This record gives sequence, structure tokens and C-alpha cells, in this order.
Amino acid sequence: MMDLSDFRKQYTKGQLLASEVPPNPIILFRDWFDEVQSKGKEQETNAMTLSTQQSDGGVASRVVLLKEVSDEGFVFYTNYNSSKGQSIEHNNQVCISFFWQSMERQVIIQGTATKLPSEASDQYFQSRPRGSQLGAHVSNQSEVIESRSTLENRLKSLEDQYKNQPIPRPTHWGGYEVSPHSIEFWQGRTNRLHDRLVYKQKSSTWVIERLSP
Ligand SMILES: Cc1cc2nc3c(=O)[nH]c(=O)nc-3n(C[C@H](O)[C@H](O)[C@H](O)COP(=O)(O)O)c2cc1C
Repeated sequence: MMDLSDFRKQYTKGQLLASEVPPNPIILFRDWFDEVQSKGKEQETNAMTLSTQQSDGGVASRVVLLKEVSDEGFVFYTNYNSSKGQSIEHNNQVCISFFWQSMERQVIIQGTATKLPSEASDQYFQSRPRGSQLGAHVSNQSEVIESRSTLENRLKSLEDQYKNQPIPRPTHWGGYEVSPHSIEFWQGRTNRLHDRLVYKQKSSTWVIERLSP
């Protein structure tokens, strides 16, 4: 047995007061993100856990990278045929969460995922390093494969195929934008009395509520 019952810590790094937050949660998200990033203590500030519902009723989570944030939503890129892509096809209601351990912060976003227009995915794909572009062609993400050499052989033949040529975006690879309808900001506090403020979209304005920790 692995006994973790003594693993606990006090959270003391900040506070979150409704009187001090902006009316727009995207502004608060950007403030928090910039603050975390500027301290330089997170390896990947833009890493987020994406949870989706599968067609068999199960729920799956995995980490993806946030690539853009705007008032429209939160953008990440992936393989549309992957397990997550199929799940979003089945149910486009998703949840994203960030845990910024260095500042004892969590952000949980619930929203609707939609595919980005293909021009936006093309533009981002072209900005990626060549190796990542080829990787998107090589990998039938989430499918069972024989062995690693299957991937390496495929990569080799694609390197030959696209030698000295631009690599087109595979049509099954692109972005999703998650348009939020609820964003919770969680700041760890002492004695487990954490601060939790949730912004909920109600008839196109954001309502802020404090949740019990
Ligand atoms: C730090 C980190 C960043 C990742 N970023 C992405 C990403 O941006 N897009 C992506 O498709 N997978 C990314 N992955 C891989 C996913 O976690 C996952 O393994 C993959 O997308 C397949 O998920 P699925 O089978 O549930 O569709 C990342 C993994 C880690 C640990």
C-alpha cells in the first residue's frame, strides 16, 4: 500500500476577492497566466487538462497545449480523428483545467468546442517546425500500432516525399476553440478555506459567484 495520508501543505501565496477582479474572466485569465509565466516556475504554463465525454458514456482526460486565448475562447490543436476528436464529435461540451502549482492556482473552464476555420488551422500549421508538421502526418493519433518502428519508417518515407517542399496540413489535423460558459478561478488559502470565484455567462454578461471551498 502507498500511504499518502500525510501529504498535505498549507496554501499561502495569494487571495482572490470579488471586489478586486475584472468583470471579464478572460482578462483575469490573462492576468493570472502572465503572472504565472513571469515568475518562470512552471515548465509549461499553457499545459491544460482537457476532459471529454466518449460515445460509450465514459469520460477521458488528457493534457493539451493552449495556443491562443481571446474573448471568443481557448484554442488548442490536435488530430480530429483522435479519441478526443471523436469524443468532441459526439458531445462538444468539454472541460479544461489548469493547475499552476507554483502559485497555488487552478482555473476550470467549461465550454463548447468547435473546429477552427480551416484557414486558421492552415496558418498555425505553417508556423510549426517541420518535424512537428511531419509528425502530424505520421501519427494516426490514438490508434493501436504494431511498434515504434512503424512510426519511424513512416516518418522516413514522408521526409523523402516532402524533401525541399512545403508540407501541407493534413485535413484531419487542426484547431478547436472552446467557447467558455463558466470559468472558475481557485486560489489556495490556509486551513483549506480556499478562494473560489466562478464567472457564469448569463444572457451575454458574466455573473460572478463565490463558491464554498
Ligand atoms: C505537456 C503535454 C502537451 C501536449 N499537447 C498536446 C496537444 O497540444 N495536442 C495534442 O493532440 N496532444 C497533446 N499532448 C498529448 C495528449 O495528452 C494525448 O496523449 C493525445 O492528444 C492523445 O489523446 P487522445 O487519445 O485522448 O485523443 C500533450 C501531452 C502533454 C503531456
